[in-house]
This record gives sequence, C-alpha cells and structure tokens, in this order.
Amino acid sequence: MTLTALTPRRGTPEPPASSPPPGSPAAPALADAYARVRAHTEALAAPLSAEDQVIQSMPDASPTKWHRAHTTWFFEQFVLVPHAPGYRVFDERLAFLYNSYYLAAGPRHARPRRGMITRPSNAEVADYRAHVDAAMARLLADPAALTPALAEVVTIGLNHEQQHQELILTDILHAFAENPIAPAYDPAWRWRPATPADGMVSLPEGIHTIGHRGDGFSYDNEGPAHRVLVGPVGIARGLVTNRDWLAFMADGGYAEAALWLSDGFAAVQAEGWQAPGHWREIDGQWHAVTLGGSQPVEPDAPVCHVSYYEADAFARWAGRHLPSEAEWEVAAATGELADAFGVVWQWTRSAYLPYPGYRAADGALGEYNGKFMVNQMVLRGSSLATSPGHARLTYRNFFPPSARWQFTGVRLAAFSA
Ligand SMILES: [Fe+2]
Repeated sequence: MTLTALTPRRGTPEPPASSPPPGSPAAPALADAYARVRAHTEALAAPLSAEDQVIQSMPDASPTKWHRAHTTWFFEQFVLVPHAPGYRVFDERLAFLYNSYYLAAGPRHARPRRGMITRPSNAEVADYRAHVDAAMARLLADPAALTPALAEVVTIGLNHEQQHQELILTDILHAFAENPIAPAYDPAWRWRPATPADGMVSLPEGIHTIGHRGDGFSYDNEGPAHRVLVGPVGIARGLVTNRDWLAFMADGGYAEAALWLSDGFAAVQAEGWQAPGHWREIDGQWHAVTLGGSQPVEPDAPVCHVSYYEADAFARWAGRHLPSEAEWEVAAATGELADAFGVVWQWTRSAYLPYPGYRAADGALGEYNGKFMVNQMVLRGSSLATSPGHARLTYRNFFPPSARWQFTGVRLAAFSA
C-alpha cells in the first residue's frame, strides 16, 4: 500500500493526562494488545522459509522479512527514540533499510529494491524485534510514562502492524503465484462459498452521516464525520462470485473495449489480462493460486484479485454500477449485507479524497494518509486476510485502480433496483 493510516485526528482535544485517550486501552490492556499483535506477525511469518522471506515479486509487494523489520522500526522510531529515556537503538543502519516513505524520518532505501537485501538475516531481524519488544514492555509497564499522547502513538503502531500483517499474506501469495509450482502457504486452506444472498438493500433518498464517530480508534482519513445525500439506490446483498465472473469472461468481457474505462482497457492490453489475478488455465479449466496453492476455481466463491478497472467493467457488463463509499457505508450499517467483512475488500466508485474538513497532522505521522489522496480508489469492508479486530464500518482502504494482488472483490449497486 500506500498503507492507509495513521495519524491522530487533528483538532481532537487531548484528554487530561490522568485518563487514557479515546480509543486507546489503559496500560495493562495496551501491553497485552502489543504482545498479541506482535506475536501474530511472527505466527504469520512462521510457515515461511528464509528464502520465502527475502523475495520481492514486484515493486508494490515487500518481503516478509521487510514487513517484520519495518513494523519494528515504526515502534523504535516513533515510540522508543522520542519517549523511552535511555533507549539504545538496536542498529543505527536499519532506519535507512526499514523506513518506508516518511520523508520527515530521514532517507530510505528504494522500495522496488527491498528484495535485494539478504542481510540482516532473518535471525537478526528476530533479534531486532526482541530488542524493541523488551523496551516496549518496559515502557508499557510504567503507567507514569504512558501519557495519553504516547498511548495513542502505540495504538497507531499496533494498527499499522495489523495492516502489514495483511500485506504479509497478499505479498507472499503474489510471490507464490509467480512460481510455476504454486507453493501453498497453508496446504489446508480453501475458498469458502460466498454467503447466498439475493436481491438488494434499497436505500431511499435521504441524508446520512458517514465517517467515524465515537471513542474507538480510527485512522484520520475516516473523519471528520459528515452528512451526505444517498439514494435512491440498491446495494447488492451478496458478493459477485466466480460463477458470475466466468460468465463475464465467456461473454468476451476482457475483449470488449466498450465495457472498459480507457485506462482500464489499456491495462488489459498492457498486462494481458484475461482473468482475475492469480488465475491460470490448465487443460481447459481455470485454476487459482490461493493460500492453499493452486486449486480449481470454486464457482460459488467470491471473485477475488480483480482491479478497480475490472470491477468497473464487470458492473457495466452486468448493467449495474459500483457503490459509492457512502452508499456502501449506509447499506452496511443496516446489517443486511452478506459478507460485508472478512471475505474480500469491495471496490467502490469513490476516489480516495479527503472528507470535508480533513487536514493531515503535522510531523512524520501526518505523512501516512493525506499525501496519498490522489489517483487511488476506496475499498470498503475487510478481507479474509484482515487481522482480527482491525475492521470497521468506516474503514477506508485504498489502492490504485490497476492493483489486484490484494484480496479485492466486487459488490454491485443499481440505481433502478
Ligand atoms: Fe508501514
């Protein structure tokens, strides 16, 4: 990504020092959350060999080892160095390797060349993680040190690491899909059918408030909450399935220029797209490289690894539209959308733009969201790879319209349901 993320909401009054900030757990809970999130990263990396953890299969994807180290650098750079008196940086050279895109945090290694880095080794990265974890444990055990502002940065760091946990899976899947023998991350993994759900959730014309409200954690790009005019529109209760997509392919969908945005058809031609990402035709049958390795395409599973361009063309072919992010949020709030969360992210027709009144925070963490608000489209919901507890109704994921290595799928909308 362009990770979504991560600044405290500007203009939010800081609570008194004696109380935790909104959305941030008290010290013991924060220490527990820290240990749990960090352990989950290592659990995700555990099935991967040292060779697996070095590979970078394309500029947008990063090596597993890089994700493990970068998330560690985040806590070192933004929590320990400024807030832990006497903290000893593990290795001064690592900031150059593991700063992702924070211009205010100093120079950094080129993103497309992350796969060139064989040293530090996996074991040294594990030592780096352990060094930072020990210092974080000491800091989080000291209630006097844990100011509300610091607790909020730690909370951001945990949410940041959860985002990279999803990327660990999407990035290694892309690498495995490039491998002719299609290794399995988890040999037992299988797609499940989409939840059967016919029809549409009808939204009559009305004014609704969207965006994050309340005390729970959110990224700054989820606010300010504001009112929008929605409807009349219908939002499909169910996701588009592989069966639907195979019909689109059989009808010549990838070859019919009239269905596509100009940039989209250019991408089809330049990339040779004939099917969703990670699909391969073997002896006349379509297979998909999944986390469980290469498997025949399951017709009832939701289509996945499609770009915005493909989602838009499919919607046009189907005589439908993609929902706007406001339409998606209002429909999902009814609780009547099947598979809104935890299956595939759903493309919306909304460009990733600031909400009215949004201002990025000052400083390095302010670089996290605002500077990416151009040339990308919003996705809503969450995916099967999203870490537990990370999804929200108001969450705004975003990727360029050509990206399709994430777990991205389609939910349709109709203005004449
Ligand atoms: Fe990051």
